[in-house]
Amino acid sequence: MLVQLVIFVLSTVWITMAQNQPGGPEEKDKTSTALKDLLSRIDLEELMKKDEPPLKFPQTLEDFEYSFNEKGQLRHVKTGEPYAFNYHEDLHRWNQKRYEALGEIITQHVYELLEKECNLKKVYLPVDATDDEPKNFIFMSEDALTNPEKLMVLIHGSGVVRAGQWARRLIINEDLDSGTQIPFIKRGMEEGYGVIVLNTNENYIEVEKPKKQVQSLANDTDEPAEKKERKDESQKETKKRRDFYEKYRNPQKEKESKHIPIRNNSTPEEHTLYVWDHFISKSSVKNVVFVAHSYGGLVFVELMIRRETEVKNKVIAVALTDSVHNVWHQDTVKSILDWMQEHCRNWVSSSEPLDAPVESMLPDCPRVSAGTERHELTSWKSFNSIFKYFTQALEAQNTEVKPKFTVTTRSSNRKKTEEL
Ligand SMILES: *[C@@H]1O[C@H](CO)[C@@H](O)[C@H](O)[C@H]1NC(C)=O
Ligand SMILES: *[C@@H]1O[C@H](CO)[C@@H](O)[C@H](O)[C@H]1NC(C)=O
Repeated sequence: MLVQLVIFVLSTVWITMAQNQPGGPEEKDKTSTALKDLLSRIDLEELMKKDEPPLKFPQTLEDFEYSFNEKGQLRHVKTGEPYAFNYHEDLHRWNQKRYEALGEIITQHVYELLEKECNLKKVYLPVDATDDEPKNFIFMSEDALTNPEKLMVLIHGSGVVRAGQWARRLIINEDLDSGTQIPFIKRGMEEGYGVIVLNTNENYIEVEKPKKQVQSLANDTDEPAEKKERKDESQKETKKRRDFYEKYRNPQKEKESKHIPIRNNSTPEEHTLYVWDHFISKSSVKNVVFVAHSYGGLVFVELMIRRETEVKNKVIAVALTDSVHNVWHQDTVKSILDWMQEHCRNWVSSSEPLDAPVESMLPDCPRVSAGTERHELTSWKSFNSIFKYFTQALEAQNTEVKPKFTVTTRSSNRKKTEEL
């Protein structure tokens, strides 16, 4: 296609020049203007797209020729190589689309693992959804609402991740352990926690926009048959021409679509509040812990603002990993900040060793190092520390005696706050 176009351009130029040969300086000017005009109309990016292979990708991991090995690493079934992003050299857009298509398959794969490997059950939301209504879902262990002792709730960050994932990039390039929530779920269940996995980013379904009807068929009925036929014929011609032009102009135009929000789940914050109101707050469990990564931390603080008393009554510890919550922007009152001081810990990306205190300029939860400078790895790197932290919180809860140093830290931090 590209070659044909170049030949076309060159021959046009040649013909134009040939026609103008005897002319004086004026004629030459005209030629170069025409040439410039012609060239300006060629959009290089559009030309690139014309050489792009169709955006059709495999629908399953097998068809992609990848599988997860026994270490949970994604490997090519024949070569054993990790995922190769640059499948086509120099076709970045196409490679990106291919990567996204693989990502969708990964999401389905992780959903499957949650059910088959972790024995979680899928629960659709909203709870009173009709059959044809768009739905979201969460995953819960059998005992999530009946476990009398403890419940662990997992919230991932924003973006393409879905239930069960911390980072898609890690799942594809590293392994399932670092990129998914599966190790947290399994360890939690082993330690006797009920588990709820939120799905905060599934906020709407995408449907293709209905095409505008050019002519209503119903209104044509009283026209004479012959005239109608002629009209239909010419309409078909017009459409054919238009489609051809459209295809030529924009060969891989993405489908026009619109979003239909999922009721009571149209944002991460609304989803979390809904799950709190319909599940967590109604469960008989005494001690709830949260693990929240990145934007999930902000979502937790938002829940706290909306349900302060309830959260304080049920939640005993919150492990944040590189949380992006912002107590200045969010409408946080002092009673919440004080609670967070005592019941939250934020494992942040840092060059310091794991669990080393990291100075915080904010009057909210204490920060410690996650032992990595990579944002997406913070949950996996602080895995053991987080479970230790929860165990300590549970023990403190059972003895009802607060360690003395907590009090000192708190007052010294408060002084710092007042200086800010
Ligand atoms: C048919 O035409 C009438 C006006 O003649 C219009 O009011 C009506 O909406 C049209 N029907 C459809 C289905 O477009
Ligand atoms: C769920 O959505 C419906 C309809 O938009 C609304 O009336 C209802 O209050 C919502 N319920 C909750 C718990 O948010």
